Amino acid sequence: MSAPRVLVHADRDELVAAVARRLLGTLDRLVRDSDRPIHVALTGGSVGIAVLAAVRALPARDGLDWGRVHLWWGDERWVPRGSADRNERQAREALVDALPIPAPNVHPFPAADDGIALEAAAERYAAELRAFAEDGLGFPRFALTLLGVGPDGHVASLFPDRPELKETEAAVIAVRESPKPPPERLSLALPVIRASERVWLVLAGQDKASALGLALAGASYLEVPAARAEGTLETVFWVDAAAAAEVPRELLDGEE
Ligand code: 6PG
Repeated sequence: MSAPRVLVHADRDELVAAVARRLLGTLDRLVRDSDRPIHVALTGGSVGIAVLAAVRALPARDGLDWGRVHLWWGDERWVPRGSADRNERQAREALVDALPIPAPNVHPFPAADDGIALEAAAERYAAELRAFAEDGLGFPRFALTLLGVGPDGHVASLFPDRPELKETEAAVIAVRESPKPPPERLSLALPVIRASERVWLVLAGQDKASALGLALAGASYLEVPAARAEGTLETVFWVDAAAAAEVPRELLDGEE
């Protein structure tokens, strides 16, 4: 796995703008360098959604061949499809609906009003992932997985001290009794995240400083799930100065 790098930007706006630029640049390079589909997992959370809105504002987004890109989600809240709390809806409003991307390339999780139970929804998303399986995995190898990080160190809907963190068989997990509302959620399992080539964690604000400091100081992923969110080629914590407050200086890569 790739050891984490920490890229610090002065504030949240600079951080969001930098991630958006790098995201578009990376996708553009990947589309040009290979003829494989480029699978990307999006995140919920205010920073992740702000990144998508910033991508939307970049003129360079029109130059990308979005037909080569597949968009998935790392997790979803189990709410009706039209709910403002749904990660899919927020991402669509921020960016996805403005893109010239074929509808079959967009892979939202099932929704609570789809008429299926949570467990069946997890299986359905796993089957969709299986249909794009690569490299002997039961799912696509994500070129890029974006993750927000909670103040408790959770990523996707993988919360501290929870059995979901140890899931090794299923690609998608039905989460019940989540400590953060809503209690029912769907999440990619850690092995799917860890098969990603690039994992970018986006964090802003002082309330994230402790989780980030612990993740980088070698805390167990059972206590700080973000500590195990690593990519095979690249693991980057994109942070603002407030979130970086408890990172040992020697681990900071500075601004880019
Ligand atoms: C959720 C959120 C959550 C979020 C992190 C980071 O499902 O409840 O999506 O997991 O990603 O808490 O959120 P911020 O980017 O807003 O700090």
